[in-house]
Parts: sequence; C-alpha cells; structure tokens
Amino acid sequence: MLDNILHKGSLKPYNLSYNELIYLLALEDKESCEKLFQAAYSVKLKEVGNKVNLRGLIEMSNICAKDCFYCGIRKSNANVERFQLDKESILRMANWAYEQNYGSVVLQAGEIESKKNSDLIEDLVQNISKIGDGSLGITLSLGEQSWDTYQRWLDAGAHRYLLRIESSTPELYHKLHPQDHSYERRVECLKILTKIGFQTGTGVLIGVPNQTLENLANDILFFKAMNIGMIGMGPYLPHIDTPLGKDIQLTSEYSEKQLTLGLKMIATTRLFLHDVNIASTTALQALANNGRELGLLAGANVIMPNVTDTQYRKNYQLYAQKPAINENSEQSRDNLTKSIQSIGEEINWGVRGDAPHYSK
Ligand code: 5AD
Repeated sequence: MLDNILHKGSLKPYNLSYNELIYLLALEDKESCEKLFQAAYSVKLKEVGNKVNLRGLIEMSNICAKDCFYCGIRKSNANVERFQLDKESILRMANWAYEQNYGSVVLQAGEIESKKNSDLIEDLVQNISKIGDGSLGITLSLGEQSWDTYQRWLDAGAHRYLLRIESSTPELYHKLHPQDHSYERRVECLKILTKIGFQTGTGVLIGVPNQTLENLANDILFFKAMNIGMIGMGPYLPHIDTPLGKDIQLTSEYSEKQLTLGLKMIATTRLFLHDVNIASTTALQALANNGRELGLLAGANVIMPNVTDTQYRKNYQLYAQKPAINENSEQSRDNLTKSIQSIGEEINWGVRGDAPHYSK
C-alpha cells in the first residue's frame, strides 16, 4: 500500500487523493516515515536538484497589531520589549546578505497597517532594489495589507510575498485567532498578491492544538487550489506567554512528535505539488539541532538564515527555544554552510532562486 502510494505520488503532480494524503501524514513507524522522506527527496532532486536557495531574513520589527493565540510577539504580550530597526540598519543587513552572496532577502515584521509603515517599506524596497543592480531578490512577509499597499510594494521592486494562512480550515483558524481576525480577508489578501503579480507563498502551523490530519491534508489541497508556488510551514512550538502555549510542556516526546509531523507534512507536500519551493523552517531547528537538514532531506529546498543583528533576536521570539538567538550572522552563515554540505546538498549562491512552478 505505502509503496504504491509513494510511486503514484512520484509519477506526476497532484496524483494523490485526499485519503492518500491522510494516509501519508498518519504514518507512524520509523521505516515508513523514512520511505516517505526518501520518495519526497527523489521528487525534489528531479524538480530542483540538490540545491538549497537562501533568503537572508531581516526581522525588522516585533511591533504587531495582531493578537494570534500562538504567537510570542502578539500584541497583548507585555513581556516583549518592542523594537523597530531604522532604515540604515536594515539596508546594512540587506547589503551584508548581498555580499555573502545569499541572492535574496526577506523583510519580516509584525503586522502594521498604516500610511507611515507603507511609506517606510516602499522606501526600503526601492533602496534594496538598487543593491547589486537589482539582482538581490526581495521577499516581504508583512501581513495583511490593502491592495494599494501591496501594489506600491510590488512597484517598488519586491517580487515575492509570504503570508501564511496558518490553517485553511476556517473553524480551526478561528480557534487560533481572536474573533476580529478574519479568515476571509486573509484568503482575499493571498488572491490579491497573486493577481497583481507577486510570487505568493503561504503555509500553516503543523501540529497546533485541535488540528487533525484531515485539516493538514486540506491545507495541502488549499496550496494547490490557490496555485501557490512557495510554501513556508513549520511545527507549532508553544510559547509560555501565549494563551495556546502557556500550559503545554515541551517534553522530549512532544518535540519528537512535532518534528516528525513537520517532516511528514513537508514530504507529503513535495510529493503532491512537485515543482514548488518549500522552506525548511527555523521551527524545525528549534526541535532538533539538525532539524533544518532533516527538512531538506524530506523535500524542502529553501533556508532562511537570520541576518538580523544578534541584539534584536531575543525580542523576536515567536515560540520557545528559538535557535541561534545568541549567534551573529557570520556564525549563522558558517554553521549553515557546513551543515548543508554535510548532508550532500549544495547552496545555490547568488541567485534569486525562484520555484520552477513560476517558469511553467
Ligand atoms: N510556533 C510555530 N510557529 C509560529 N509562528 C508564530 N507563532 C508560532 C509558534 N508558536 C509562525 C506563524 C507566522 C510565522 C511568521 O511564524 O505561522 O506566520
């Protein structure tokens, strides 16, 4: 049964049924999981080779208007010292990423909708677009915004946008967010982003309380239905200062379970969608030292090394055990380069690294 499903999934994209997706996500024994990861890795090799695309991540600000029940920088968390990097620092970090030959950067921050913020981002993107004669890729991860704002940022020179749906099941979405956080608006934002010409990325929390494997299978179908070319998703990790995380103990059993589910979700998504970019996210690394490498071996092909100055990292903790908060960007780079080589993968230096999905 398993071999048949893996073979079927490997043949061509979208070749698995809803029930088969659930079957894969439900695998428990180590040997079966390994088979799934290997099948997904083979599909990845065929689509994008053993090459890892890098995005230097700049965590610009932890000021957030949202109050998501799972997130450590939610508005109501008074234990966070809020910061906003100034323009010069952000440009310095973007330049550093360019000099390291990372090929692209991501500007990420808490969600702020204001004219001032739109202007700031527009100005930043215009300046970053000039780095390397426009060769540095620019991804934004700045939440829900108006059509007009998205358009301005696109016109300024950004070309990718990440906005996780967090869960594509409205009932679960509403359990994870306060009443006034609209599922419909989030979907609408994803549609606008794609419509105006962004390469749009989305993703979900994996293993969040109240989530079923059916929910996760539907998430994968959602990626297809929305014609998504970039996936960024990681295991849920409890944060002590949040309503959802305050009573969850991060035991070794819990970590192990979250890590395996995260890897199964990456592998199943690769086996279903084939030609997309999938990030091996920092949340995997939080669960195991080699978590990001395991993600690559389960079918992911993108890594986002942090290029934010060390002093700010501790205040950008979305979840417990955020790795590398005391590391500087040089150390992050060196550790990453070594660990990628150690698993027989290579870094795609100096390229934007678009998913093949977009050239089809
Ligand atoms: N565990 C894992 N991921 C989280 N995120 C926020 N809080 C957590 C958490 N507790 C993720 C969300 C968000 C991204 C920037 O970080 O999916 O979209």
